[in-house]
Parts: sequence; C-alpha cells; structure tokens
Amino acid sequence: MKTYKICVIKGDGIGPEIVDEAIKVLDAVSHKFGFELEYDHRLMGGCAYDVFGEPLPDETLESALNSHAVLFGAIGGAKWDNLPRDKRPESGLLKIRKSLGAFANLRPAVIYDELINASTLKSEVVRDVDILVVRELTGGLYFGQPREKKDESAFNTMIYTKAEIERIAKIAFEAALKRNKKVCMVDKANVLETSQLWREVTSQVAKNYPDVSLEFMYVDNAAMQLVRNPRYFDVILTENLFGDILSDEASMICGSIGLLPSASMGGKVGIYEPIHGSAPDIAGQGIANPIATILSGALMLRYALNEEEAASAIEEAVKKALSEGYRTKDISAYDAKEICTTAEMGSVIAGLI
Ligand code: IPM
Ligand code: MG
Repeated sequence: MKTYKICVIKGDGIGPEIVDEAIKVLDAVSHKFGFELEYDHRLMGGCAYDVFGEPLPDETLESALNSHAVLFGAIGGAKWDNLPRDKRPESGLLKIRKSLGAFANLRPAVIYDELINASTLKSEVVRDVDILVVRELTGGLYFGQPREKKDESAFNTMIYTKAEIERIAKIAFEAALKRNKKVCMVDKANVLETSQLWREVTSQVAKNYPDVSLEFMYVDNAAMQLVRNPRYFDVILTENLFGDILSDEASMICGSIGLLPSASMGGKVGIYEPIHGSAPDIAGQGIANPIATILSGALMLRYALNEEEAASAIEEAVKKALSEGYRTKDISAYDAKEICTTAEMGSVIAGLI
C-alpha cells in the first residue's frame, strides 16, 4: 500500500484539539482511498520551548525535511510573549517556513452557501465569493536584515529580490490559469520602492501568460474593495505582510476565521496549516472550529500527495456537514440544527467520508 510520512506539529493553544480532528478525517479518507498515512508527532512553538529551550528543535525540522508533508495546527500564547524574539513561538514557525523553502502561501477564501449569513457582510455582497490569496511567505519585512529594536528607536527592512518576486508571481499566474484568469497584485507602489520592483517583475512574468489579466491595486484600496465588492477578486498576489493582513480580512468575509485553510509550498516539503492562530482564550474548551485544519489536510492530500480524490472527498464532507446544519460555536448563530464540540464536528465530517 502507498504510505506517506506526515510530520505532525500540533503546537500550542487550540492546536492539539484541531489537529486531532484533522487526523480523524485523514484516517477516514486514507482508509477509503487505499493509502496509509504514517504520522511523526513533533513539537514546535511554546510547547517546544518549554521542553527544548527552542521554539523549533532540530529534531522537528529534521522530521519535517524527511516527510512528504507537514500538518500544522497553531502556535503561541501569553506565557511566551515576553521571551526574546528568537525564542518566541512565532520564530519557530517563521524558521520552519524559511528552512523548508515554503515561499508560496496559498490561502483560498470561499464562501459556503450554507454560511452566507455568518458573514459580517450582506449576503448579496458575499454570495459566490471565491478568492485565492497568494502570499509571499519567506521574504519582506518578516525576514529582512538588518533589523533592530533599541530603546529610543527600532527598524525593520523590507527587501525583495527580483528572483523572489518572479517565483511567487509564476505561482499566482499558474493558479489563475485554473480559475478565472485574473491576477490582482496588491502593493503600495505610490510609496515603496519594493512595490515598484514587484510591479516591474510581475509585468514581465505576465507576458508569459497572455490569457491571464493583470492589474495592480494599492493595499489600502484593496482592503476597502475586499469589503465593498469581494466578488471582484480572483487571485490576489501580494507580499508577506500585506498578505497576512488581507487574508485575515478575507476570512471574515467567509464567516469565521475558523474556516480557512492554507498551503505553504515551494520547497521540497510543504506545510499545511489553518490561517488562524492558537486562540489560547478558548483552548481546552472543545469549542474551536476544526474545519480550517481539516481543509488544510485536504490541501495536503491534493498538493503534496497528489491524492485528488481523497482531497475532494474531504471538501465534500465538510460541505455536507454544514448543509446538514452541524455548527461549532463560532458559527452557531447561523442556521444551526446541531451545535457541536470540536471533536463532534471532526467525527461528523469523518463519518460523512
Ligand atoms: C499567519 C500568522 C503568522 C504570520 C504569525 C503567527 C507569525 O499570522 O500564518 O498568518 O504572520 O505569518
Ligand atoms: Mg496571520
């Protein structure tokens, strides 16, 4: 039987609860579609700092590098907020993204008809929204050197090379070819030199994709257009920090940040993770929504393991669970027939496979 090795990083806060449910669902599909998933559980984030004194222990990185994919929950919490920056849980996540070469972060934001009332926007505005945010993930302000915090001042460096822009732009155009063939590149070219370079390089890449239209939009305007007319967008291509911000905004359009999966790819091994954080305020209460992580498992099957049928089966099961009225607490106000705990939602979806 085909066997895939998955490095599982549950992390902190609600991470362990939501990843357990994703595994439940992955086990159901692997059983049905005749392959095996072998899980190697490793620590990253605050929990890793507590054991190893490092947010990303070498053995975790090694396991990730030796796996077909990484399934990741979330990291962070108040307990570790005052550590020096390189010991903070977030540094572990940034380091694994960089070490795996995961420069392309795909964040699909799709509205489910069943949850149209869960959006904070009017249903006629959000119906049929289907956006793919393609976020550059290993460059820009997050990684730029030099950077420093002093007592009276602090600075960061926003730097991008032509090669970094080129490779992420290609990913966006390739994705657009399979969708509505529209790329909107979001930047701040009226102020930033990096954005000017992004425009030049992206225009060059666009020449190889005559069937895809390219437009540029300033990030402030994009933030506004996303809530004014989100259906306008197909693929949004943008740099690291803008993508971080806009993808959270896009998730609320869809009803809950607990719904959006992501794939961080580009290197040998990809990381599949919900876009939300570790939500320490609700950890351990069984009320977290596991759907974003379950759908990240589907992206993992599709992109890392080429198990398209199994990936679609998960997506169909999620839709079915929602249309049958199963809801976790975050979306319980919207046409719920049954309010579920985190584990119940996982079991319902696994049962529908
Ligand atoms: C995300 C998160 C991370 C990021 C944090 C936890 C470092 O917000 O994946 O969007 O900013 O990339
Ligand atoms: Mg974020």
